This record gives sequence, C-alpha cells and structure tokens, in this order.
Amino acid sequence: MLEISGLTAGYGQMTALRDVSLTLGAGEVLAVIGANGAGKSTLLKTISGLLVPSSGTIRLGGEDITRLPAYVRARRGIALVPEGRKLFRSLTVEENLKVPASAGRAGTWTLESVYELLPLLSDRRARIAGDLSGGEQQATAIGRALLANPDVLLLDEVSLGLAPAVVAQVYEVVPRILAEGTAVLLVEQDVHQAMRMSTSVHCLLQGRTSLTGSDLSAEEVSRAYFGY
Ligand SMILES: Nc1ncnc2c1ncn2[C@@H]1O[C@H](COP(=O)(O)OP(=O)(O)O)[C@@H](O)[C@H]1O
Ligand SMILES: [Mg+2]
Repeated sequence: MLEISGLTAGYGQMTALRDVSLTLGAGEVLAVIGANGAGKSTLLKTISGLLVPSSGTIRLGGEDITRLPAYVRARRGIALVPEGRKLFRSLTVEENLKVPASAGRAGTWTLESVYELLPLLSDRRARIAGDLSGGEQQATAIGRALLANPDVLLLDEVSLGLAPAVVAQVYEVVPRILAEGTAVLLVEQDVHQAMRMSTSVHCLLQGRTSLTGSDLSAEEVSRAYFGY
C-alpha cells in the first residue's frame, strides 16, 4: 500500500529525517516510536504532503506520489490526524466532520457510520469543537480523517494529554478501521501502548531508523528509543 524509500526531509538547513525507508500493507498497523524531536511528525507531514522531501520516494499503491500536493494525496487516500488535532475550534463537531467531504472519496465512512463508530460524537454533533474535552476533540479529529475514506490513516500522538481510560477509548476504534482494509501508521511515545496496537514497529532516533521489525521485545525497542 505505502512504500517509502530513502526519505530525507527537514526545515531549511535543518535535516529532521534522514534516509528512512518503510512499507505498510493494507490492514497493517505500523507504530513509529521515538523520543521528542526524533522526526516522527516530520515523517507524517512528509507522507501527507505538508512537507516536501529533499530526497527519497513515497509510493501509494505502486504510484509515485512524492511530488503531489497534500490535497491531491488526500484524494488518493492519505489522511492525517495531526499532532494537536488542528480542529476548526469555532465550528461544530458536525461541521468539522464534513470538511473532508470536499475531497470526494466514496467509501464505508459516512457521517452515519462515523457516528455509529464514535457515539460520543453523535451526542455532541452540534457542540462547538473548541468547547469539547481533549478526548472528544481527538475523536472528532479521527472521525474527520475517516470521512476522507483513507487507504492509509496517519495518527500523530492521538493519546497525548489524554487520561488512560480515554486513550483506551480512542484506540478501541482502530480494529474497526483496519477491518475496512485501511492501513494505519501511528506515532506514539508510549512504547508499550505502541507495541500493543501494532503489527510492526519503526524506531526513530535523531531522524534515523534505529530499529525496525515485528516481534521485537519491549527491551530492544526501549534501547532503540533512547539510543543506549
Ligand atoms: N516547523 C519547524 N521548523 C523548524 N524545525 C522544526 C519544525 N518542526 C520540527 N522541527 C525540528 O525537527 C526535528 C524533528 O521534529 P518532529 O518531527 O516534530 O519530532 P517528533 O514528532 O518526533 O517529536 C526537531 O529537532 C524539531 O525541533
Ligand atoms: Mg511530533
């Protein structure tokens, strides 16, 4: 589904991601793990087209999308739940959910099926997004991404700042999303949470791949995370 090869990206003179390669198949969950500043969000921004890489290629379903703008990638099936959610805070939940409809991808996810997946959104559809709790806002951001009917869903630290019970609720929907054949790439700072959720992990350390694979031990992953 998604094939990334030799990806290098950064901000001006600063290289934040160096020579990263990974593949992600339909129905798989890849967890990208790494400390603050490791380049996790940079990777997701580069995949979704918010950042142009200085080298490397990104392929979706065999097609090179490296140079396509973000809105075209959204139409081809890449959806990002960005770090910090980035909702339209003065709009209602339902208005936020309707934003990706303009991308015009048909699929399983409609307002009705998203409300069924996340009933708390259904109850709050007329509420102003900025007034919601962190967990409710995160659910809104996930619902919005699903309405784009993505083939690849990118989740950037969806658990950040949420209480453990709320984190469990947010991640509870992932199996339902995978069942639709969607591939999920998630960024998570909690190593144990990430390993529970994923079929394979990819550790970044200062912008480089420090470890990648499946069936790794928590100890190996922690070592790759901290670099010692
Ligand atoms: N908009 C930006 N401008 C300049 N540097 C940035 C920007 N965003 C991130 N960085 C830098 O790039 C590196 C990687 O950041 P990021 O990808 O956000 O890390 P992570 O998501 O793993 O915490 C860090 O050193 C960070 O300071
Ligand atoms: Mg980040």
